Amino acid sequence: MRVLLFTGKGGVGKTTTAAATAVLAASRGLKTLILSTDPAHSLADAFGLPLGPEPTLVEDGLLAMQVDAQGAFERSWRDVQDYLRGVLERAGVDALQADELTVLPGAEEVLALLELRRQAASGRYDLVVVDCAPTGETLRLLALPEALRWYVDKVFPAQRRALKAVRPLLARVAIVPEDGVFEAVTRLHAELTDVRDLLTAPTTSVRLVLTPEAVVVAEARRTLTSLALYGYRVDGLVANRILPACSSDPWVSGWVTAQAAQLASVQADVAPLPVLLSSYAAAEPVGPDALLAFATALYGDADPTEVVPGTELLVVERDADGFLLCLTLPLAGLSDVDLSRSGDELVVTVGGHRRLLALPSALQRCQVVGARLVDGRLVVRFEPDVDLWPGGSQ
Ligand SMILES: Nc1ncnc2c1ncn2[C@@H]1O[C@H](COP(=O)(O)OP(=O)(O)OP(=O)(O)O)[C@@H](O)[C@H]1O
Ligand SMILES: [Mg+2]
Repeated sequence: MRVLLFTGKGGVGKTTTAAATAVLAASRGLKTLILSTDPAHSLADAFGLPLGPEPTLVEDGLLAMQVDAQGAFERSWRDVQDYLRGVLERAGVDALQADELTVLPGAEEVLALLELRRQAASGRYDLVVVDCAPTGETLRLLALPEALRWYVDKVFPAQRRALKAVRPLLARVAIVPEDGVFEAVTRLHAELTDVRDLLTAPTTSVRLVLTPEAVVVAEARRTLTSLALYGYRVDGLVANRILPACSSDPWVSGWVTAQAAQLASVQADVAPLPVLLSSYAAAEPVGPDALLAFATALYGDADPTEVVPGTELLVVERDADGFLLCLTLPLAGLSDVDLSRSGDELVVTVGGHRRLLALPSALQRCQVVGARLVDGRLVVRFEPDVDLWPGGSQ
């Protein structure tokens, strides 16, 4: 099963491109689901049909749904929320405030991902297309499984141990978390591991939609780096709303020239990734027929689900002096990248985004002795730490 995620800056045409790709794939015989994780839910508008939180048949071989993150949140997180609410209320916080405080930021987004996992695991689809929220939220969303997994792995066991020790004491004030709370968190952890596996599988890729305008392109460049940082494979870009070149109107031709310059620079920057082009249509592409026409113009005869071979995102190589950890970070500059070591993890920060890379055991016993950016790859050199390698041998 193939998973395709579409993201990009607000309003560039993500929903339209995602919906069009799904319509084309279904018309070519793939059992397809399109799922929107954007709380703004404009997928129904793009199809011109009402959609709900369960897959709805749009046409032969094509189902569509808008994740009801609020409803899913209510179901899965209730145990934890009830507990936290109880604690806050007992601590004197008023009920309404306690209610607001226990809504975890990001929890709704995680639940959208859990719904993706549920649908993918159903085995009913050849292709799942995800219409994501604008870039900022999508990056937060895609960073969540790893961040939460880290929290659950590292912080939660410590808390749990501490709680065990003070449980008799806490019992007196009746704020001991029920076992249900631990179960809920443990279950969430397992589910998030599955989500992360699904999103980083070789059959999953992200397509970045942009319009050829300086501000949009600048954001797309940053997104490309951030997605790579988090381990997500981008296998193509879509440049949407390209104006027709044949106009005598100086206002239009000014835009045409500006768009052409932006396009050329994007293509040069992201090569060998393909940049598919879509013209500014005379009307909004709404409804399955208009979407099919949009997709046919975009992909031509090409297979819209084709896995464009990408470079490996993270590899560890070995040489005479030690190891090289290579992380593909397209378009990053050395001044944007910050590196530090925290125990068994390497902390890579790029333009405000941070990833904790769990180091394989051989690298845990090494020191970082240098880092360089070479052709869009961050290469970190590790050498054995003599104190940790008995006899200094490898
Ligand atoms: N190539 C195009 N030609 C004409 N209209 C377009 C084109 N692409 C998209 N549109 C229209 O532009 C509007 C925004 O498109 P769309 O909803 O797909 O963007 P989006 O990136 O999903 O927006 P949001 O960030 O709000 O989710 C819609 O009205 C859509 O029909
Ligand atoms: Mg949208």
